[in-house]
Amino acid sequence: MKVTEAELVISAVGPKQYPNNALPEIALAGRSNVGKSSFINKMINRKSLARTSSKPGKTQTLNFYKINGGFMFVDVPGYGFAKVSKTEREKWGQFIEEYISTREQLRVVVQLIDIRHEPSRDDKAMYEWLTYNQIPCIIVATKVDKIPKGKVQKHVKLIKDSLGAKGTLIIPFSAETAQGKDQAWNALMGYIRS
Ligand code: GTP
Ligand code: MG
Repeated sequence: MKVTEAELVISAVGPKQYPNNALPEIALAGRSNVGKSSFINKMINRKSLARTSSKPGKTQTLNFYKINGGFMFVDVPGYGFAKVSKTEREKWGQFIEEYISTREQLRVVVQLIDIRHEPSRDDKAMYEWLTYNQIPCIIVATKVDKIPKGKVQKHVKLIKDSLGAKGTLIIPFSAETAQGKDQAWNALMGYIRS
């Protein structure tokens, strides 16, 4: 996939601001700091179009990035971020849930999980919720550059077993080395084209 154009269309704080074109959308989901914004940047070859940070909680709005004039990546605030109040967290969760469960343009959710750790309760809840709502999803296991090559398959299996993700594709990925990038594009293009 050759990305020639990538632009931020809007950072939305509510449904009224969502773009009203009919372009297919790919949304990211995952804990704060797992690498959602870094994933987008690597996929589109832009160092910092999507803002990243070593501190969790960087992305706080739904950010719509238009790619090659043909589809959108939607960067989503991370879950499991302790520094916001419980009410804020709930409001936030509802906002994202509503987007994912009602957005007609949404074709697939990329759920990101840090390959180093067993999925958290939030990760499991998110995966279950996506499955229950029959939202197509793929799993991207991030930061694969941080574990030895020989351990990758073991970690992938752990994620698969822990989520009960039998039929779901799990792609080990690194925003540092671009490992998994072609595989991720291949998988995503299948959803965008159909
Ligand atoms: P929020 O916006 O807070 O929800 O976080 P996010 O999921 O968008 O994470 P972000 O992309 O901002 O990355 C968080 C930190 O992890 C940054 O310091 C990134 O440089 C780092 N990071 C992301 N992906 C990778 C990766 O594949 N490998 C390594 N080594 N570091 C990564
Ligand atoms: Mg982010």
